[in-house]
Amino acid sequence: MNVRVYPNGDLASIAAAVLIAGQVVDNPRSVLGLATGSTPLPIYRELIAMAHRGVLDFQNVTTYNLDEYAGLGPDHPCSYRRFMQENLFSHLQMRPEQIHIPNGLAEDPDAECRAYDAAIAAAGGLDLQLLGLGSNGHIGFNEPAPHFTTNSYCVRLSEQTRRDNRRFFAEGEQVPTHALTMGIASIMQARRIVLVATGPNKAQAVKRMVDGPVDPMVPASILQMHRHATILLDADAAALL
Ligand code: GLP
Repeated sequence: MNVRVYPNGDLASIAAAVLIAGQVVDNPRSVLGLATGSTPLPIYRELIAMAHRGVLDFQNVTTYNLDEYAGLGPDHPCSYRRFMQENLFSHLQMRPEQIHIPNGLAEDPDAECRAYDAAIAAAGGLDLQLLGLGSNGHIGFNEPAPHFTTNSYCVRLSEQTRRDNRRFFAEGEQVPTHALTMGIASIMQARRIVLVATGPNKAQAVKRMVDGPVDPMVPASILQMHRHATILLDADAAALL
């Protein structure tokens, strides 16, 4: 894996936007895997600015998001569908048929996950997958576990992840217990991976991802095995390397 450290999160975000932009300039029909959370927000702002200046055209891009909370519909303020709409898609005038996010309301989540993987495969696979990093080393919602997961599936969220993500939910509202996520195999099949981690609360996970053994208890450590993974860090997240 190719690790780059920047003095601050803004620069790491610009670097990520540059890599994504390069992909889209190179192939305007790119299939992009996208992520949610706080980390991608400045990256999406950069991409929107580039699109508005006419540098990038997303009209022929196809996107597949990593994950969605089970039980949250597209209009729920904390659903990832809504997050993506508000923070990226609406600014790029993307059409619904370009956008794919697991359906959190699917009656049969396993069937939904199988269909999701089949759709990614039918689209030719992911050209580039953007990832954030959970403070426990998760990617997507692949939590630490005794084995690496394979394809997309419905996962029970760890208490740490539910605590970390509490900040996005209104007072008194329950953080969902489950989510639909791309599995590790689905992520690893992406031809290029760009993972961004910023802030001191990611330092431990970054250290274990980069310097530790490949271990399913640190799901992101599998990226050591990927042929084209770029890890973009700010100085705080890289502090223990
Ligand atoms: C969630 C998402 C992950 C994301 C992680 C870190 O759990 N499912 O894809 O990487 O949060 O989020 P943040 O960037 O807000 O720290």
